[in-house]
Amino acid sequence: MNAPAPAPCPPNRRILVIDDNRAIHDDFKKILGASASTTGALDDAEAALFGDDGPKATSLGFEVDSAMQGREGLERVQQALAEGRPYAMAFVDMRMPPGWDGVETIAKIWAAYPDLQVVVCTAYSDYSWDEMIATLGQSDRLLILKKPFDVVEVLQMANALVGKWELLQQTRTHVDELEARIRERTQALEGANFALQTEIADRNKMELQLRHAQKMESIGQLAAGIAHEINTPTQYIGDNTRFVQDACVDLLAIVGSLAPLTAPDAAPPTAAWLAQFREQAAKADLEYLAEEIPKAIAQSLDGVARVAKIVRAMKEFSHPGTAEKTPIDLNHAIDSTLTVATTEWKYVAELVTDFDASLPPVPCLPGEFNQVILNLVVNACHAITDVVGPNAAGKGTITLSTRRDGEWAEVRVRDSGTGIPEHARARIFDPFFTTKGVGKGTGQGLAIAHAVIVEKHGGTIHFETEMGQGTTFIIRIPLQPAAAARQAA
Ligand SMILES: Nc1ncnc2c1ncn2[C@@H]1O[C@H](COP(=O)(O)OP(=O)(O)OP(=O)(O)O)[C@@H](O)[C@H]1O
Ligand SMILES: [Mg+2]
Repeated sequence: MNAPAPAPCPPNRRILVIDDNRAIHDDFKKILGASASTTGALDDAEAALFGDDGPKATSLGFEVDSAMQGREGLERVQQALAEGRPYAMAFVDMRMPPGWDGVETIAKIWAAYPDLQVVVCTAYSDYSWDEMIATLGQSDRLLILKKPFDVVEVLQMANALVGKWELLQQTRTHVDELEARIRERTQALEGANFALQTEIADRNKMELQLRHAQKMESIGQLAAGIAHEINTPTQYIGDNTRFVQDACVDLLAIVGSLAPLTAPDAAPPTAAWLAQFREQAAKADLEYLAEEIPKAIAQSLDGVARVAKIVRAMKEFSHPGTAEKTPIDLNHAIDSTLTVATTEWKYVAELVTDFDASLPPVPCLPGEFNQVILNLVVNACHAITDVVGPNAAGKGTITLSTRRDGEWAEVRVRDSGTGIPEHARARIFDPFFTTKGVGKGTGQGLAIAHAVIVEKHGGTIHFETEMGQGTTFIIRIPLQPAAAARQAA
């Protein structure tokens, strides 16, 4: 809203005449209509200026003050300023012995009040124009009036310079107003900017907490599955080791009974000894042991390898969040995430991986990237469960593939699930948007995936979907941060 326009002030028509000659003051007062009487010359001047129907000089409204010396002139200017009624212009005589001359007076007055418009009156060539400029500087506030005065010239100068002073004040007020408005706006903008910064900081903090909470939740969920995954091999490693332990007791007993035969002075085995040995060997079922022991050891080693793989994957999955990106093998990171999440998918889907082995290391925040893959895989499992039902014998398919596309690494997570209904498509990346029941989804997974891929990695995430056929999420991460910058440009 604009401020109401201030009430117009009467124009300032105050003029100061500085001259050591009293008669000159009277002349100025007559010309400028400040005295009661007007002269014939003045009437002529008015007629010349305004025509016969023009205003009389007496109605021009000039207020004329006099100073007989430069110093007195300066004092009057200062006093007028202090009273808040400054002069608009001054006529200054060039020669005013014994005091300051006109140029000196003007210089001193301008030092006190630079707005004053000045006409310097001269009959002599005391100063050349160049000398005057050298002292006073180039100025549009200075005019020269040669004596003897031409009345019309004086009147016109007074009118023009008083008007010029008025315009100067108006411009200054206008500029001051503009500056004040700019200051106000700047302050308002600074306030808004500060509020925005605070809000952004709060949002970042909340987002971080949210991401952390989701990670903790999924780790908690995964922990039960991982316990199961580790429990199965641990059990058969235990069983197999106990079997090998028992077999060793029998085998060592047989080997021990052969010891006497190996002594240097040993007698050949008797028939009774051989019969007993055969009985012992038959009891131990050497043939069975020869077949089963290598199997048990191989199976145990396989189990140990599986446990080791799960532990390694867990370690990689819950990668301590580094603030710096590090080049990582995306295929390996995805593999680890799938291992950790085995129990999430293995009952609902066949998992197919199609990794591009030539994919170069990709600058990544590993912990956050893994979280994104996990979120997408869990979503895929839910979408498949909704198609095949939770206890169906038939499974769906989840395919994870990677490939290099120019300066980008591309990861696709495809599922044979429900597809995303039309009405949800525009909203799935919104925080807290979910179509899942209480306890199954909170609507954070894709919002976090979007924040991690787009904001943290300068990448893109989008999807292709068909109802009844399934959905593919496509993630693209720049191999060089410069690629993202070019795309953004
Ligand atoms: N692969 C998919 N197939 C079908 N719909 C999907 C798929 N992925 C996501 N959606 C839809 O997008 C919504 C939002 O997904 P998002 O992962 O953000 O949240 P959520 O899975 O519901 O909950 P959260 O991930 O927090 O446990 C889902 O509720 C679902 O409707
Ligand atoms: Mg989800």
